[in-house]
Amino acid sequence: MHSFDYENGSLHCEGVDIASIAKQFGTPTYVYSKATLSDHYTRLDQAMAPVDHMVCYAVKANSNLAVINTLAKLGSGFDIVSAGELFRVIKAGGDPRRCTFAGVGKTVDELRYALENDIYSINVESLAELETINQVAGDMGKVAPVALRVNPNVDAKTHKYISTGKSENKFGIDFSRIEAAYADAAERLPNVKLHGLQMHIGSQLTSVDPFIEAVKKVAPLAAKLKETYGIEFFSIGGGVGIVYHETLPSGHPDWWTNDSPSASPLTIDRYAAAILPELKNLGLRILLEPGRLIAGNAGALVTKVLYTKKGDAKTFQIVDSGMGDLIRPALYEGHHDIVPVAEPTTDEKETIDVVGPICETGDFFVQNADLPKLEQGNLIALLSAGAYGFTMASNYNSRPLPAEVMVDGEQVHLIRKRQTLDDLIAGESLLP
Ligand code: LLP
Repeated sequence: MHSFDYENGSLHCEGVDIASIAKQFGTPTYVYSKATLSDHYTRLDQAMAPVDHMVCYAVKANSNLAVINTLAKLGSGFDIVSAGELFRVIKAGGDPRRCTFAGVGKTVDELRYALENDIYSINVESLAELETINQVAGDMGKVAPVALRVNPNVDAKTHKYISTGKSENKFGIDFSRIEAAYADAAERLPNVKLHGLQMHIGSQLTSVDPFIEAVKKVAPLAAKLKETYGIEFFSIGGGVGIVYHETLPSGHPDWWTNDSPSASPLTIDRYAAAILPELKNLGLRILLEPGRLIAGNAGALVTKVLYTKKGDAKTFQIVDSGMGDLIRPALYEGHHDIVPVAEPTTDEKETIDVVGPICETGDFFVQNADLPKLEQGNLIALLSAGAYGFTMASNYNSRPLPAEVMVDGEQVHLIRKRQTLDDLIAGESLLP
């Protein structure tokens, strides 16, 4: 579902008018819907009910404390990739014992921090890392629960920057080497407990087929590892894609998991129905690590048109937000539907580029798009910006980070205040 709809001529998030949010908190501002976050988590959790499972929300998608806290209250576990993310989970009331720790470059300090907090599993991406974990755990007088990440060499058919499950990607241990790695660890590394097996083939997958291919390939291995080493879980990673196009009008319960009308729809239910048959007889706890699926369509970035500039070749709408706040268009040619906050009263369209204020040609949200006519001062919303939006934001061009708010029914809560100019230079100092 999503919760961005026109009501009385103005775009609302749940019961709150976005124009009033912009008035109260200024622009640019990220707006999140608590109902959507909760709905996505709950529906996935319920769809997986036929097996023992744990949903570990991928914190990197949106790590605001209020987002983590909302999911923690629903019982979510968390997939983290840094000490910073674990710190956030702890501060937000999440349970470290329901955390998995991913990433190819964990430092000794991060490993110690994770072990001090008794996390559920460290998901190991190389043999060198496994050796380090064994050493760190030994030094601490602990046994580290680990899962090795297998790289199944399956093509996720997604953007090359977010494809992770092919042999040429840096992630995981090759399928051909994984059994030897478990055998080696069992024989030589007394301070690790072989707790599970993990994989993640990529992000923003819009077809169920690569998931089925990967699960079919890896499930027999999981069964064998359970038999031989007594592993307890199999994490199938995240990666379920969302709809970035045609997000309005809403009301279609599956809209957010259909990439486009012509693509094969990947709904939560279809995803679960496709993978469960391969998983349910394993007798293992199944872990899922969704990020975008939970948070993506729960958020929008609200920005204001500063200037309209008509040139020989183009018309530019220059807005007060840019690639520093939402880098997905610049980095992955990502698309975010743009809708005016004031509902258009005519069908009139104009071909425009919506661009940011940053000194880069790549600083655009959309190019040559037919959008409703906009004027200086108009507010627009970039939809589907709840995942990998704020978390990837930067201060480039010394621009303060935007505010974040969460709507809960008729209420709006400030969940991160806009940075100030002083925030920009905090921690810096002049030479003596
Ligand atoms: N598990 C692991 C080990 C991951 O690396 C990721 C994402 C996830 C789970 C969650 O994937 P999701 O369910 O969100 O697809 N910044 C990019 C996406 C990068 C994804 C990185 N890893 C974007 O904006 O498209």
